[in-house]
Amino acid sequence: MSTGSSDTIAQATDDDAAKTPVTNRKQPFPRGFLDTISTGWAERPESLPAARPQAAYAAARRDKVSAAFAGRRLVIPAGSLKQRSNDTDYPFRAHSAFAHLTGWAADAEPDSVLVFDPTDAGHDVTLYFRERADRTTTEFYADATVGEFWIGPRPSLAGVAADLAIATDHLAAFTAGADDVALDDADLARFVSELRLVKDEYEIAEMRRAVDITAQGFDDIIRALPEAAVHARGERVVEGVFHRRAREDGNGEGYDTIAASGPHACYLHWTRNDGTVVPGDLILVDAGVEADSLYTADITRTLPVNGTFTEVQRKVYEAVREAADAAFAAAKNGVRFRTVHEAAMQVIAARVAEWGLLPVTAEEALDADAGGQHRRYMVHGTSHHLGIDVHDCAQARREMYYDGILEPGMVFTIEPGLYFQIDDLTVPEELRGIGVRIEDDIVMTEDGPVNLSAGIPRTADEVEAWIARVQA
Ligand code: GLY
Ligand code: MN
Ligand code: MN
Repeated sequence: MSTGSSDTIAQATDDDAAKTPVTNRKQPFPRGFLDTISTGWAERPESLPAARPQAAYAAARRDKVSAAFAGRRLVIPAGSLKQRSNDTDYPFRAHSAFAHLTGWAADAEPDSVLVFDPTDAGHDVTLYFRERADRTTTEFYADATVGEFWIGPRPSLAGVAADLAIATDHLAAFTAGADDVALDDADLARFVSELRLVKDEYEIAEMRRAVDITAQGFDDIIRALPEAAVHARGERVVEGVFHRRAREDGNGEGYDTIAASGPHACYLHWTRNDGTVVPGDLILVDAGVEADSLYTADITRTLPVNGTFTEVQRKVYEAVREAADAAFAAAKNGVRFRTVHEAAMQVIAARVAEWGLLPVTAEEALDADAGGQHRRYMVHGTSHHLGIDVHDCAQARREMYYDGILEPGMVFTIEPGLYFQIDDLTVPEELRGIGVRIEDDIVMTEDGPVNLSAGIPRTADEVEAWIARVQA
């Protein structure tokens, strides 16, 4: 990787040999190149954009941060490129708090910093970023990490200021102070995390967008199941089909896709996705498109590969669906977040007890201290907040999250499951290797919960009809 140097050509040519790193493939630029590279380029007249829709929402969020941290200098970095190997980096993804407070999302510049400088009236807020270098600099043509010759056009200070309706300055003008409060401060990290617990209308619209693209991705997957079933790594076919939709219509996936066929469905975060997809088995797909705004869906559907559930698969599937419906019915404004999980677990405990899998009654299993025997078959929680992060608001206090009160604007998942591992001797053979999860994305409104992903078929009958329709 090269550095972000903005040396002028005059400087660069002084001592070419000394400055050129010794590598096995870099060639020094000859004089003719250096004499001509910075000339002959058309002017780039800039028409400033109108502020993007999220700018006003981001400003309102910044006002809340400012009020909570009066007199303190706050520094919210976007983060930097992370090396993958040698001179290749992972795709850049801005820190979620930075994106939330600026509205700068998939198009944010690495190394940017949002700074709140305290004033008598509150804070002056400035977004510092590495403005594009002009064409007389080595950065322009020789810097493969940030140079426009290599990575394409980069924004100007004035352009970003207009786009995000925020004051901007060049990154070089930013200086860190000894008393700066940054995201490693627990109070600030908690505050900006809890600030995301209730979504505004822009955010909810983006969640809808992410869910709608994800729904199309699931249709794509169903269309590709016959191809997956004849491929040695059919799970990768599924992953790849969803990736295509996520990249074409969104920024990408909000998290690594889980394409878990047969017994792999019982591994909760199976992302190796290198298995076969066998007709007669179920395939559990947990996948979510992240929109360009960075808001992500998080959806799971469990599909019979050949289009039809067996009797035992259907029994497990419908028990999970019943748990999901019970959780949805419990999700009322004013109840605690954990009520949703508790409602799902009552169904899970009842069903596995009824099937003779527990050494105790369902009631005993549900005892908070002595119970939990049913959790062997569903070790994860039923719900998590969802937004710009798949597991959103992760630094929120327990009393605001698990023990918090549901209110309009909250977005969360409902995702019960049942997983009978292939070598689990506590269950009859017919159940071993079956894993089912159904995951939907819910927004609380004044009128109660709304399932954003209700348009993606959920019941066993609907899933069979969906597969038949899409593959027709
Ligand atoms: N996809 C991760 C989760 O469902 O929480
Ligand atoms: Mn989830
Ligand atoms: Mn999920």
